[in-house]
Amino acid sequence: MFIVVGVTGGIAAYKSVHLVRRFVKAGHDVHVIPTDDALWFVGLTTWEAISRNPVTTSVHDDVARVRHVSLGQSADLVVVAPATANFLAKTAAGLADDLLGTTLLATTAPVVVAPAMHTEMWQHPATRANIATLRDRGVHIVGPADGELTGGDSGPGRMTEPDEIADIAMTVLAPKDLAGVRVVVSAGGTREPLDPVRYIGNRSSGRQGVAVALAAADRGADVTLVVAHVETEAAASARRHPRIQTVEVGTAADLQSVVGAAAVGADVVVMAAAVSDYRVAAVSDTKLAKETDDGLTLELVQNPDILAGLAAARPDGQTIVGFAAETEPDRERLLERGRRKRERKGADLLVVNEVGWSRGFEQPDNAVAIIGHGGHVVAERRGSKREIADALWDVVVTARRSRNARE
Ligand code: C5P
Repeated sequence: MFIVVGVTGGIAAYKSVHLVRRFVKAGHDVHVIPTDDALWFVGLTTWEAISRNPVTTSVHDDVARVRHVSLGQSADLVVVAPATANFLAKTAAGLADDLLGTTLLATTAPVVVAPAMHTEMWQHPATRANIATLRDRGVHIVGPADGELTGGDSGPGRMTEPDEIADIAMTVLAPKDLAGVRVVVSAGGTREPLDPVRYIGNRSSGRQGVAVALAAADRGADVTLVVAHVETEAAASARRHPRIQTVEVGTAADLQSVVGAAAVGADVVVMAAAVSDYRVAAVSDTKLAKETDDGLTLELVQNPDILAGLAAARPDGQTIVGFAAETEPDRERLLERGRRKRERKGADLLVVNEVGWSRGFEQPDNAVAIIGHGGHVVAERRGSKREIADALWDVVVTARRSRNARE
């Protein structure tokens, strides 16, 4: 996506560095337009370094490429954070005396604005009227939050945290092709206790599963996300989403009962969690002590295959998606393993990815093939975990549409 981030002259400008970073890390092409006043707070060099694109404030720079309108024309999304009272007034009036102003007049992309100012300025009738005008024009106003302000005072006026602005921006952008669809997603890795302090676990961070849940919710689905030991930041972004209900579990048995219950009324179930295939036969009530010089033998018993169980008991019309992390480097053999696994488990779709010591796990990016009925590779995608998630939903939406058309 081509994202323009406008930054106006408020102290919260320093927080927008993180906003830009988040967009860049998610794989977007980000162009920052600071106002002249914004540069008092964070300099041009920082914006260029973080966005990895040239930054100017003036309509008189880069004139050959008609920059005063080209950024607005190219934008898929414009986010202005922080937005000062002065910016709101200028934009409500349609003023275009700087690059941000001309860009906003030249764009048809969705615009997200995060105001930040002192409470008195936010509550002034002029600002209220400007906000109402912008809302009427379809501008998405995010915040401001109620909290501590720069002067030591407190009240509404504090800029919404950048992570939340980024989440809302992604929601604004997403197609709403999953509106009304009930989705269950499992994410993370189960842990099977040996005793009160130790467990058998795996390296899943849960980021891919959370990305699947966020993408679905952004596209309008109502999501139950079942998380097993998901990395804190990923879990927090899911919890912030108004259409995601998060349930925490620990072991494979917990996961099975929560997902099983949630799946009853679901249209789509995505098992992205790495579920332990085994658990210890008898969990010790006390910490296992090293009493001799000998090794230790643990007796493991198999956990049920939750995905296979869900597929066998699925209600009519439910779509079931599995994930398979494989260490097979040969592409054909990897796909073959995926085909067999999809058949064996009875899933409609199986997302296969190659993992290894430094691949897949705990990484921001992923590369997958999605295998459908008949063993066909219906999509192959390399990119951020969010991009993979959206590619998966594209496949699910198409499959459900063509099935509905047949029925
Ligand atoms: O067999 P494998 O563990 O590679 O299968 C992965 C898929 O099966 C994932 O979708 C995972 O969530 C699911 N699974 C399961 N129950 C298990 C093991 C894996 O649902 N006991």
